[in-house]
Amino acid sequence: MSGVPVGLSRVGCSGRSVGACRSVGAAMSVFVTRRIPAEGLRVLSQASGCRVLQWDSEEPVPRAELLSRVAGVQGLLCLLSDRIDREVLDAAGPDLKVISTMSVGFDHLALDEIKKRGIRVGYTPDVLTDATAELSVALLLSACRRLPEAAEQVRSGGWTTWKPLWMCGYGLSNSTVGIIGLGRIGQAVARRLKPFGVRKFLYTGSGPKPETAAEFGAEFVPLTRLAEESDFVVVTCALTPATQGMCNKDFFSRMKKTSVFVNTSRGTVVTQEDLYNALAQGQIAAAGLDVTTPEPLPTDHPLLSLKNCVILPHIGSATYATRNTMAVLAANNLLAGLRGEPMPHELKL
Ligand code: NDP
Ligand code: DGY
Repeated sequence: MSGVPVGLSRVGCSGRSVGACRSVGAAMSVFVTRRIPAEGLRVLSQASGCRVLQWDSEEPVPRAELLSRVAGVQGLLCLLSDRIDREVLDAAGPDLKVISTMSVGFDHLALDEIKKRGIRVGYTPDVLTDATAELSVALLLSACRRLPEAAEQVRSGGWTTWKPLWMCGYGLSNSTVGIIGLGRIGQAVARRLKPFGVRKFLYTGSGPKPETAAEFGAEFVPLTRLAEESDFVVVTCALTPATQGMCNKDFFSRMKKTSVFVNTSRGTVVTQEDLYNALAQGQIAAAGLDVTTPEPLPTDHPLLSLKNCVILPHIGSATYATRNTMAVLAANNLLAGLRGEPMPHELKL
């Protein structure tokens, strides 16, 4: 399209002030910060009266482009990798009414500033819970049974014969599992782990939730006790000022030498240097991380030199079906917000 810089495309630029956005009287402009599943974009492009500008790339929109493209838009569909702070909000200006993030996590949004400006926020809870819980279990099993290390032995010729003491790890049967953040994903992880023969579930959070915990017979404990008693620690909490850096030197020093740590929440819940030391010094047995600081993790990062650390590139919700559903939900949240209607999933600010 002439006049459109590389990476940008205009979608559904009807400019008609009819249909979906009629209630607000004029055509609405929305900016989509990345290439998203086609189903989601279709929802936006078929909504008459909406002018959709998209950063049509697999890679993040450069900050300067983001700042320039949001100017004057009413709606912003963003991803967890876009930092939506005061600078972006200022660049957008007073017309910005709705921010819809294609994620359940919202730690990339400056919520205080957003609230102050009366901007509504949509997000994507529930639809990714199963996929993320499944990945959390896969990561736990990969770490505790040493799957990447063992597979590498097959490729490299390290597999010489069946050996009684070789490639042993730790199993879930009769274990204690500690869940940090028994929310939607935390519960879905517990539900999946229970049939493996887990003996006891512990959990921590901002307070006990006996009704939720009853399904797993889970006991609410302080973080220190969870660290001390768990054979497996699974982190599924939201990133907040209270959870930032929560898994630190003290936490790892309390864990058992035979225990396994899994994080599928956000990288900065963990003090990564302390995790490295705990793994390198054998203070804990293994770790599985789907999230790191930074993302992507540099290929020369010390954690990548450890055999007992399995690291994935933030793929918790990455099934085709889940990503499609997230994109459609994010689009519908955006449109509902622009129409002044209840959103399918609005974050209460
Ligand atoms: P929920 O809001 O349902 O759960 C968040 C949990 O965090 C709650 O149980 C809450 O506990 C807990 N929490 C809050 N404060 C603390 C605290 N101080 N200590 C311990 N726990 C705390 O969210 P979801 O389960 O849907 O998602 C959780 C997070 O998972 C997201 O915020 C996101 O960061 C991450 N995520 C990662 C994905 C990936 O690809 N790896 C995919 C999807 C999500 P309480 O109720 O007691 O406050
Ligand atoms: C989220 O939604 O917060 C995840 O990190 C990616 O799906």
